[in-house]
Amino acid sequence: MKIVARTLAGLEEVLAKEIEEIGGTDVEIFNRAVEYQGDVRLLYKSNLWLRTAIDVLLPLSKFTARNEEELYTKIQKINWSNYITSEKTFSITPIVHSSVFTHSHYASLKVKDAIVDQLREKKGRRPNINTENPDVKIMLRISENKCSVLLNSSGHSLFKRGYRVYGGAAPINEVLAAGIIALSGWDTKTPFIDPMCGSGTFPIEAAMKAKNIAPGYIREEFGFMSWLDYREDIWEGLKYEAQFDIKETKTPIYAYDKSRQTVRTAEMNSDSIKELEGVINFEMKDFFKSEKPLEDGIIVTNPPYEVRLKTNNIEQFYELIGNTLKHKWTGYDAWIISSNLAAIKRLGLKPKKKIPLFNAQLESKLVHLPLYAGSHKVKSE
Ligand SMILES: C[S@@+](CC[C@H](N)C(=O)[O-])C[C@H]1O[C@@H](n2cnc3c(N)ncnc32)[C@H](O)[C@@H]1O
Repeated sequence: MKIVARTLAGLEEVLAKEIEEIGGTDVEIFNRAVEYQGDVRLLYKSNLWLRTAIDVLLPLSKFTARNEEELYTKIQKINWSNYITSEKTFSITPIVHSSVFTHSHYASLKVKDAIVDQLREKKGRRPNINTENPDVKIMLRISENKCSVLLNSSGHSLFKRGYRVYGGAAPINEVLAAGIIALSGWDTKTPFIDPMCGSGTFPIEAAMKAKNIAPGYIREEFGFMSWLDYREDIWEGLKYEAQFDIKETKTPIYAYDKSRQTVRTAEMNSDSIKELEGVINFEMKDFFKSEKPLEDGIIVTNPPYEVRLKTNNIEQFYELIGNTLKHKWTGYDAWIISSNLAAIKRLGLKPKKKIPLFNAQLESKLVHLPLYAGSHKVKSE
């Protein structure tokens, strides 16, 4: 069967590689989505193992509709009692780009009516809508007159891994953090440091990768668990295997922040995953006053960029980051993501790579700044 995994802009190739690694076939890349073939086991496995997927969808039907009546009729052709009973709740998420269906809300109301009417006719009772925590999450995509209906097998977005108990001031999305680590090419052996770790997302994602802990390992709820055809045996089997896939790591992973409270927050988040005990070295340190912990390694970080966290003078702050990297962190490979593009220029280092990404809605750049060991210059391309 066909499976669709959605991701963030710029992470499509990373996700496609992850899908191939877990056994997906006929992998095709689209804008913020990857389609592939697999069975139910792979659908569950995708939810458990894909670090850069936001959700995993199962296409139900594809058709054209020229108006709301036709949409209603074609939605009724789907046998909904295969997916929803009167006791279950459901929601519809519309994504509509169409000159035919100009109000996504009306289109989704039509779809809701078609489902409810069919089930009421067959069973005498209708299922209820629940937008917060539905049993079955349906996605309606309309592009002009081309419609598709998909089931969301993840339920809540997969960036909700379950470890973030405490948020911090401006946490980066877990899927984006995992994607950045993948884009950096980190080999899981090289020492890893986030000197401005906030709630600890980068070091926690890195530690999970180094120990081969599945990103969905501690999460307890997935959408497919409320489906009528849920195969608990398959899911339990995957979880059991994932437990044995966890390995030891000797890779030093550091998480620093200048705020004591923030470091404590990061530590508490890491504590949510008991297998991470002792893997990350948390310390309160001011980046500008501290020394590198080892001769070489990789820095992955997102410094404040003024939008959500204000510093007195953001451009001066980035200048200081650049100087600190040049003078104190030679031998390291730095990967910095920021949405303050003017401030990035003030780092005073020529990036070897600039990768456009979005941090939430903010247009951002991930810059790669390799630093020569024993020199103050940036490595040439
Ligand atoms: C954008 S947040 C990082 C968010 C983090 N990636 C997360 O997922 O939660 C930036 C962090 O930089 C820290 N910071 C600011 N100036 C610093 C400095 N001089 N040294 C170390 N940390 C600093 C702040 O305390 C804040 O937690």
